[in-house]
Amino acid sequence: MFNLILFGPPGSGKGTQSAKLVEKYGLIHLSTGDLLRKELKLKTPLGVEAQQFIDKGQLVPDEVVIGMISSALDENAGARGFLFDGFPRTVAQAEALDKLLELKKSSIALVLFLDVNEDELIQRLINRAKTSGRSDDADENIQRKRQDVYRNETLPVAAHYDKFKKVIHVDGMTEIDEVFSGLTSHIDKKIA
Ligand code: AP5
Ligand code: MG
Repeated sequence: MFNLILFGPPGSGKGTQSAKLVEKYGLIHLSTGDLLRKELKLKTPLGVEAQQFIDKGQLVPDEVVIGMISSALDENAGARGFLFDGFPRTVAQAEALDKLLELKKSSIALVLFLDVNEDELIQRLINRAKTSGRSDDADENIQRKRQDVYRNETLPVAAHYDKFKKVIHVDGMTEIDEVFSGLTSHIDKKIA
């Protein structure tokens, strides 16, 4: 199994690049944001609980997203590998993921970190808000809150994987296809 984390702040292009990467490499795309939005749309109890956090730009509790990922891993037994997008977002989530993969005799091969500066991130989210319909895109205060939460709670996840020398930074400020080439050049060196 080849497991990859696409890491980066809100608006850095994780979703955009994930779509292209799973097509090229045949990995299963696991975006906790997408999974939560699906629950929200269906108004499931989980979705209703999650909405109050999402709408404030806060993280949904760890046990909720870890449970979702655990089920998704089991549902896709036999996959070539997984691309994690927007997960793990806390050190507790990272430790839980490492354990879940260990049970499957696997691990994270690589963490690709998209570097984009904050002005550009906010600009991208303002643009995306025009069409995304996402409640957490609608307001610049929530967008900024998401960047704060990222710095305080999610950035330590990169430090966690850096201990194992798994993190590689890629310039996320260039055109979409150029960012994609940067990512694939690193994956091609690692994937069997
Ligand atoms: P989530 O859905 O994960 O959102 P996010 O991390 O805030 O990131 P985004 O989806 O906003 O950005 P992205 O990096 O995917 O960028 P995109 O490709 O869209 O999480 C939402 C919420 O759910 C969280 O706040 C939290 O409440 C909850 N949640 C989710 N996961 C959780 C977890 N694990 N634990 C707890 N809570 C969780 O690109 C952005 C825009 O820029 C697009 O319009 C795109 O077209 C454009 N763009 C992309 N690349 C480029 C480029 N190179 N040049 C110019 N424009 C570009
Ligand atoms: Mg996304």
